[in-house]
Amino acid sequence: MTEQELIKRALEARTFSYAPYSGFQVGAALLAGSGKLYTGCNIENAAFTPTNCAERTAFFKAVSDGEKEFLAIAIVGGKKEEGAKEFCAPCGVCRQVMMEFCDPEQFRIILGNENLEYQEYTLADLLPEGFGKGNLS
Ligand code: THU
Repeated sequence: MTEQELIKRALEARTFSYAPYSGFQVGAALLAGSGKLYTGCNIENAAFTPTNCAERTAFFKAVSDGEKEFLAIAIVGGKKEEGAKEFCAPCGVCRQVMMEFCDPEQFRIILGNENLEYQEYTLADLLPEGFGKGNLS
């Protein structure tokens, strides 16, 4: 699956974003080791703290379907009225969730926009010296 295909799926997922409080809409498309694709959007809440980011929605959908290995994620985001023009990097909590299931040197994080342009990082780039299950073994 190409970067552009992943970004397109993330843009589709963003249309389902539930963000009535921030107005910031995010979509994600997560490619599992099985070859299956899992999408997610951010889901906000009137109590604010239960809000779930798009990336974690995609991860939790995938893990709850039995997936444990992941190759790449595409992320798109932006204010509702502005579209997805700027690159949107994952928050710290989402990076930590990625750390639980992904090889930091191999997992690819693709920050896309509505023109299908992108910047690509590894998880190690965005979460250097990350704390993971290896630290507990
Ligand atoms: N958000 C995401 O979904 N992913 C990110 O990586 C950054 C932030 C969401 C959470 C909240 O609904 C809105 O964007 C503003 O923070």
